[in-house]
Amino acid sequence: MAVVGIVPAAGRGERLGAGVPKALAPCAGRPLLEWSLEVLEGVCDRVVVAVAPGEPLGPDRVRGGEVRSESVRAALAAAPEARIAVVHDAARPLVTRELVEACVAAVGGGGWDGAVAAAPVSDTVKEVAAGGRVERTLDRRSLWAVQTPQAFRADVLRRALGAGAAALAAATDDASLVEAIGGVVGVVESSPENIKVTREIDLLLAEELLRARAAC
Ligand code: CTP
Ligand code: MG
Repeated sequence: MAVVGIVPAAGRGERLGAGVPKALAPCAGRPLLEWSLEVLEGVCDRVVVAVAPGEPLGPDRVRGGEVRSESVRAALAAAPEARIAVVHDAARPLVTRELVEACVAAVGGGGWDGAVAAAPVSDTVKEVAAGGRVERTLDRRSLWAVQTPQAFRADVLRRALGAGAAALAAATDDASLVEAIGGVVGVVESSPENIKVTREIDLLLAEELLRARAAC
């Protein structure tokens, strides 16, 4: 059963502002992307990366799209052999082998179409109307902050990524597209340490965490 890693790495990294695509920004001694690639390559039969315009292309390096979901779609299209696709953002360098394996196993078990890494939220979350008025406080016990990796039955993910351009642009993760076509998605509990590098402060934190991990 071919397990293929799909790494969207084609974003511009505007909020980080490193002057290069975020995936190439230096992080604890190597490009940010390399941390995720090393982990995924240890678990998957193959890893396909969606890269930013101007980056070298190849069988495992395809040109990304204008929006994240289009990048995922382009990378998945280059892996017709995939039976399970594990999507993981280049922006999350703290992913672990155990977490990827747990997501793959949860889908391989057959009950779910998708399994997503997620952590229970620790903040109180409120729904707020335009103007700032609080509408309601959500029950935190049922709220999870969703991360990547996200593993899917590849046929279901391909179908989900067939959504129109507007739906692809609006989607902030792949699981929501799978949910939208009726797919069954479950969570795999993950650590809040699996942060996404969005701004400079996240990069500093990621570097600290990676160095601390290396020192263990
Ligand atoms: N991504 C992608 N193709 C895009 C946009 C994003 O492959 N057209 C990838 C990014 O490279 C990143 C992941 O999707 O690994 C999550 O996106 P985000 O954190 O928003 O990264 P950027 O889009 O690069 O950052 P920004 O929004 O600040 O420009
Ligand atoms: Mg972005």
